[in-house]
Amino acid sequence: MNKQNACVIGMQWGDEGKGKVIDLLSKDFDIVVRAQGGSNAGHTVVIGDEEFILHLIPSGILRDSVTCVIGNGVVVDPEQLLTEIAELQGRNVEVAGKLLVSDRAQVVMPYHKALDAAREKALGDGKLGTTLRGIGPAYAEKVAREGVRMCDLIDPQKCRTALQHHIPLVNKLLQNVYEEEPVDPTEVADWAVRNGEAIRHLVGDTVEFLNDAVRTSRSILCEGAQGSLLDVDFGTYPFCTSSNASAGGMSTGTGLAPKELGTVIGVLKAYTTRVGTGPFPTELNDEIGGRLRERGREFGATTGRPRRCGWFDAVATRYTSMINGVDELAVTKLDVLEGIDPLKICVAYEIDGRQVETFPARASALAAAQPVYIEMPGWHGETAKDNSTDSLCPEAAAYVEKLCELVGAPARIISIGSERGQTLAG
Ligand code: GDP
Ligand code: IMO
Ligand code: MG
Repeated sequence: MNKQNACVIGMQWGDEGKGKVIDLLSKDFDIVVRAQGGSNAGHTVVIGDEEFILHLIPSGILRDSVTCVIGNGVVVDPEQLLTEIAELQGRNVEVAGKLLVSDRAQVVMPYHKALDAAREKALGDGKLGTTLRGIGPAYAEKVAREGVRMCDLIDPQKCRTALQHHIPLVNKLLQNVYEEEPVDPTEVADWAVRNGEAIRHLVGDTVEFLNDAVRTSRSILCEGAQGSLLDVDFGTYPFCTSSNASAGGMSTGTGLAPKELGTVIGVLKAYTTRVGTGPFPTELNDEIGGRLRERGREFGATTGRPRRCGWFDAVATRYTSMINGVDELAVTKLDVLEGIDPLKICVAYEIDGRQVETFPARASALAAAQPVYIEMPGWHGETAKDNSTDSLCPEAAAYVEKLCELVGAPARIISIGSERGQTLAG
């Protein structure tokens, strides 16, 4: 295994605090690379009283010494990327010369967003609650081998020809299946060529760049987006995203061989949240759930939607620890539990009268699962006095120890606030 590289993976349904963890760790890495997802991600980094929310650009961008890469597995909306770059530069964060976009990455087109919205509308009550960023349709076209890639976008002639053939098909779908307005082929082609021109200087062969970094011993941190329970293969299908958000996706999404990925760091919120629809066995639709939402400021970083909140689920996270091969944990938002006593942890599910400790394949089975809980004492004072692990109050220390025991990995980082400094090294 490559000893100096690492991957940061979300172990729940996203929003575990990956942005904060990446920002912390990135000071010791030369390169931070995103491997999957797109602008459905919202990664928050808080430095002093400044808050940054990154959607497409890796969270390592806030460190001057780090080069950021948007890997081949990402679906990139060029307009969103340009907006994000302008916003960062407007806040004195240098991006020029520090960002590279894979020439193999798929482009999210305006019609992907139209298809995303049309599909959600058609699903009615059965909708997935997507972020409407065009992610599902962009990945669907990738797999159908109909997508436009960055290397095409920056070649105006190729781009226009490809769209000329493809847009009539998109319009058939929009008009005949979803009964929506068609898109204007010329408008889309002009949009694509314009954005291609604006982004051209960032596009390159990131596969060679990353592998050259391996050869020359520069260290690489892979930034996971979403969470393993949203993974298209291992998550709560179909209530999931359209990419491999678990460790497997880090190799295919970057061009780094699996053995080069290094240590797997799983980010774990001390309770559970989920945005969008889909089963969530430990969800709390009561005063405690409301309290977690308020104290944890659980509102989507991308869509602003209130996040559903619930107790920690050790069945789900033991499963995601297994599929990711998690070596170390970063336990976040421990402070949010202050004042809740007792605390519950789900250690098994009861499904159809049977107790199970494995994560079911069918979403309907998970929806029927009754959580089996153990209780832990809560705490009423401060979670920790300072930044040493010894300063954790005994109940908080026991709670973290229990999570580690249940999930089967040690805590490397414990986070007790959104700010960079509110962190205990494990
Ligand atoms: P990500 O998508 O995994 O990067 O997570 P988000 O940024 O979407 O959501 C995490 C939220 O929790 C952000 O608002 C962070 O600023 C905040 N946060 C991260 N760690 C902590 C923590 O330890 N305590 C508290 N109270 N907030 C935290
Ligand atoms: P980060 O990286 C939380 C959810 C959506 C929806 C489902 C499908 O910030 O943790 P999509 O737009 O991907 O087709 O939506 O996935 N979702 C996320 N939930 N955090 C995210 O990213 C998410 N990205 C997608 O809410 O339920
Ligand atoms: Mg998020």
